[in-house]
Amino acid sequence: MAYNVGRSIQRVEAFLPPEPGLRAHLFRVCTLSVRAAELQGRDDSQIDAIAWSALLHHFATQLDSEGASRLAQDLGLPPVPELDPAPEAGNLEAANVDFLAVIKALSKQDAALVESANLFDEQIENMPYEAGSTEDTLKDLFASGLISKSFASALESFQTVTRAELTEAIAKLPVFPKAAMEALRIARDPESGIREMEQAVSRDPVLAGETIQMANSGIFGKAHAVGTLSLALARVGTIAASHLISAAALQRCFASASLNQLWKHSFDTSANTVIVASEAKAVDGSDAFLAGLVHDVGRLAYELTPAGAAIRYWQDSGFPVTYAELLVSGTDHAEIGAETLAHWRFPDRLIEAVRFHHRPEITKSALAAAIYAAEDTNESLPSLARDHAAVKRLEIAAFPRAQSAG
Ligand SMILES: [Fe+2]
Ligand SMILES: [Fe+2]
Ligand SMILES: [Fe+2]
Repeated sequence: MAYNVGRSIQRVEAFLPPEPGLRAHLFRVCTLSVRAAELQGRDDSQIDAIAWSALLHHFATQLDSEGASRLAQDLGLPPVPELDPAPEAGNLEAANVDFLAVIKALSKQDAALVESANLFDEQIENMPYEAGSTEDTLKDLFASGLISKSFASALESFQTVTRAELTEAIAKLPVFPKAAMEALRIARDPESGIREMEQAVSRDPVLAGETIQMANSGIFGKAHAVGTLSLALARVGTIAASHLISAAALQRCFASASLNQLWKHSFDTSANTVIVASEAKAVDGSDAFLAGLVHDVGRLAYELTPAGAAIRYWQDSGFPVTYAELLVSGTDHAEIGAETLAHWRFPDRLIEAVRFHHRPEITKSALAAAIYAAEDTNESLPSLARDHAAVKRLEIAAFPRAQSAG
């Protein structure tokens, strides 16, 4: 049976810091270390030592020395030496090394494992300050030699789905219909209008049917039911008609019940992206709706692979979805979404926006920042630096959504 991380947390709860962000870091480092140790066949008492060290690796800055000594006694460890000089609050590096050194129950190899898990998690937390792609930043971390062999091999074992398998899954998704793409082009063409759009969609009877259905679904406002494509389109302008058509075209990708929630999230994000675009000069308003609608399309490919269960496991352990995807596949749904849109021959500006909707700090795409600002879920680790980068790129006062931590 899998080692119970929750019980370890309870065991040392009295010594854990109250700050939610720091606690979340400690829990993640603990889970990463424990899962790595399990893969390498450590016994329960070794894993206890690993779990506690992971949970307490910031403790020297959290406790006075009396508390630290009590903890050491409690864990059956030698007393914690007075650190000389005492570590300044915030000087975690010095404190970490000293603390790990006194966990005598921990072999050198296991201490290196915990330290590696800590470094890895801190690197993910620091991503908003990095100029390069997530992949390159992690490559640099591994090239630095700071990550122990055993943790690196555990990370490899966590990866259960390859990029090639995700690309295969993309090919299995319903294709975004040509007629819908043509409707999007017409919406941006001042020379063409509703009539041309109607002609384009009529060439694809399935899409025409789906568009009428979508018009009658109430999602785009309650009006009288319409029976024909021309009525469905004529009721709205060309831009709104293209929204209607693209929503109708995309809905087939989200057909299963399990994807219903994701479809709803896509719609909400789409509406929020339109609100952000109305405030941000740099964002093309006619792109905002579609960008929001397709922003998480990369998650569809994941759902077609066995990775889904593993991703949910890490999410249940407190890892945001992009982090979980990184562990399971070495990439995430933003990158896979960009690949999906490229496969569907979407315009580059939409591909770029989706690729960076969780890394708005490393792109010039204001649309990426707009999607990021419009998200109402925590799909990546919360970061004020990243929020500021997005607000700055958009030249708006603040996000329309409520910021939440966790
Ligand atoms: Fe740490
Ligand atoms: Fe999202
Ligand atoms: Fe996302």
